[in-house]
Amino acid sequence: MMESTTTVLVTGGAGYIGSNVVLALRASGFTVVVIDDLSTGQSWLLPPEVTLVCGDVGDCALLDRVLPGYGVSAVMHFAGSIVVPDSITDPIGYYRNNTANSLTLIGACARDYIHVTDLAAAHVKALCYLMSGGASITLNCGYGCGASVREVIAGVERALGRPLPQAELPRRPGDAAILVAASDRIRQVLDWHPRLDDLDLIIASALNWERSLLAKRQPVTGH
Ligand SMILES: NC(=O)c1ccc[n+]([C@@H]2O[C@H](COP(=O)([O-])OP(=O)(O)OC[C@H]3O[C@@H](n4cnc5c(N)ncnc54)[C@H](O)[C@@H]3O)[C@@H](O)[C@H]2O)c1
Repeated sequence: MMESTTTVLVTGGAGYIGSNVVLALRASGFTVVVIDDLSTGQSWLLPPEVTLVCGDVGDCALLDRVLPGYGVSAVMHFAGSIVVPDSITDPIGYYRNNTANSLTLIGACARDYIHVTDLAAAHVKALCYLMSGGASITLNCGYGCGASVREVIAGVERALGRPLPQAELPRRPGDAAILVAASDRIRQVLDWHPRLDDLDLIIASALNWERSLLAKRQPVTGH
């Protein structure tokens, strides 16, 4: 067995499905870390070389330590509550454990970042569509795929060639974990074909924009 440098985090890895996946991952040479609160799982199901972090997958602080701490490259999520009658008597608890907790695994929130040139072109297309008699319509404008805030920060650091100061804060009220446009309709109705769907390109052009604004800013002089 070739030992892989890829570390996989398996949530609920001490449960039925999770522990079998852990064995399959080990058989394929992956390094495995498990988070499990052992509410129904059994630690003895895990091979000795697999690290068990005993805790709640909904614990953001724990995940913030484990993901970078073990160099996790991929997450497989099996932690959850599965007893159907219990989900009827305790729907909120089941919602929390099976739905809300899963959101903690989405590292930073993801957004459908779009290059300003593609966005501008979509607006011109929309105007032409309306002026040629097209019916009023609501269209999402985006690429249909997302990048996380961490990916954006990494991209800005690449473009600048230096690290940025960062602080990870809790999710703001109202912030959706993922916002990605379903863009099939705008492509079809407006015949819009984005040309600049590349995060590095988007960042480079945003930086250029900010730099040109900065260069044009008049120095403030006193009276
Ligand atoms: N059993 C099946 O046939 C089957 C089939 C398809 C999908 N699934 C899905 O797979 C998932 C796992 O099912 P299973 O049968 O292995 O259940 P299981 O109860 O055997 O395993 C769940 C594991 O998650 C752990 N866990 C629960 N809440 C946790 C939390 N908040 N933090 C950390 N660990 C927590 C438990 O201790 C347990 O080890 C469920 O989402 C289930 O719906 C199960």
